[in-house]
Amino acid sequence: MKKVIIAIDGYSACGKSSTAKAVANILNYSYIDTGAMYRAVTLYFLQNFVSLTNPVEIDSSLKEIDIEFRYNTKTGKSDTYLNGLNVENEIRQMTVSNSVSEVSAISAVRRFLVAQQQKMGKKKGIVMDGRDIGTVVFPEAELKIFMNADMMVRAKRRQDELLEKGDLVRLEDIIDNLKKRDLIDTSRADSPLRQANDAQVIDTTYITFEEQVEMIIEAVGEKILS
Ligand code: DC
Repeated sequence: MKKVIIAIDGYSACGKSSTAKAVANILNYSYIDTGAMYRAVTLYFLQNFVSLTNPVEIDSSLKEIDIEFRYNTKTGKSDTYLNGLNVENEIRQMTVSNSVSEVSAISAVRRFLVAQQQKMGKKKGIVMDGRDIGTVVFPEAELKIFMNADMMVRAKRRQDELLEKGDLVRLEDIIDNLKKRDLIDTSRADSPLRQANDAQVIDTTYITFEEQVEMIIEAVGEKILS
């Protein structure tokens, strides 16, 4: 059967990753969480006190960064590794969330990660989620989805996610973080978050997770059969 590239973009915490993962499972496709890659670079920069305003330091630091995804047989999910260490939990913490949009606005960081993402998509049969997948990484993707949801719904979802990992964070702090990130993500000069002209929009405020997944699977079917 014809294999395609599925690009899933949208705002933070509107259900992109879990939906993308489920779609990839059903189709037996690879799933790539590009947000995790930006988070891993951010973690490295924080740990190594890299100055975000020093291009020379940024370039030399990027050369030291190796990011991989490895399947975790215990959880059945893929974990993010930074230079050989599992950082899946660390990259989801608020310290990283508070700096990730600033780091991902740096063009050198984007060039570094986009090149790796494009390599990963060479084989097709891939679901990639992020902010610029349908517009910059794979403008030729056969299916583009743009997801959004009401701010309160997004914040509650992110709070639940953090709680599952043992982190109790106030809703106000999460809303504040999401608003700041939305602003930086949509207004940065390099590859801002925006809906591709040919993307299908899914607002997840009032639909169930199963419905989101089903909508995408149906849309894929139309692409594969056309
Ligand atoms: O999907 P996420 O919330 O884990 O993404 C974290 C940040 O990474 C997000 O605030 C913006 C950035 N990002 C990006 O700029 N481009 C991508 N393709 C994916 C994420």
